[in-house]
Amino acid sequence: MINTIIVKDYDEMSEKAAEEICKVLSCKKNAILGLATGSTPIGMYENLVKKYENGNIDFSEVKTVNLDEYVGLEKDHDQSYRYFMDFNLFDKVNINKENTHVPNGNAVDMEEEAILYEKIIDSLGGADIQVLGIGGNGHVGFNEPDDKLSLYTSVVKLKDETIKDNSRFFDSIDDVPKYAISMGMASILKAKKILLLASGENKAKAIGELLNEKAVTTKNPSTFLGLHHDVIVIIDEKAAKYVKR
Ligand code: PGA
Repeated sequence: MINTIIVKDYDEMSEKAAEEICKVLSCKKNAILGLATGSTPIGMYENLVKKYENGNIDFSEVKTVNLDEYVGLEKDHDQSYRYFMDFNLFDKVNINKENTHVPNGNAVDMEEEAILYEKIIDSLGGADIQVLGIGGNGHVGFNEPDDKLSLYTSVVKLKDETIKDNSRFFDSIDDVPKYAISMGMASILKAKKILLLASGENKAKAIGELLNEKAVTTKNPSTFLGLHHDVIVIIDEKAAKYVKR
């Protein structure tokens, strides 16, 4: 079931998202957090760091599992998702880095890495809450619209529109990796709760399809979230442009 919260803007979305994470941590100190990268959750991480600095949350027993990683970037490349997570959260709170998991995009055998990563998710028992952004094309993680969607963690070829969207973070579009490793749809749906965030008009079409159509389609992978029993969608007014109220 999807519960939708429409807020004014990015800042309010970020505050509300951090509150949802805090609710989970207040019930379970050793929660498993499923985390996402991209521009959308940065404000949520800022709020979480503030709450940590004010003594309101404690990450000492938390474990994390991230959605995805580019293939071929070094871990310390400033666009790698491991770097993103260290910079935006892990280096700023009292988390034990050994308890943080991001797929290795530089493994010698990427197929083997995908299998190992899915085993990590299972050994943790799935995330207590999985944070998701959404692509303008409806992708979640790097599960791109297609005839088929992967169930489990796998190596995926990025769509041209995703490469173009993400090129804003790189010096040139040619520098954007063409492949990534991503949790699959079933890996995501293993989470006990899912928190999807979206801000801005470029997400409005995908969000409209997710919330209005009450059907699943591989053309918009986010629609598979409708199969989960506990999803919270927090979106701002611009992303909610086409949502029927
Ligand atoms: P964004 O990306 O947060 O940078 O908009 C979201 C996504 O592509 O999943």
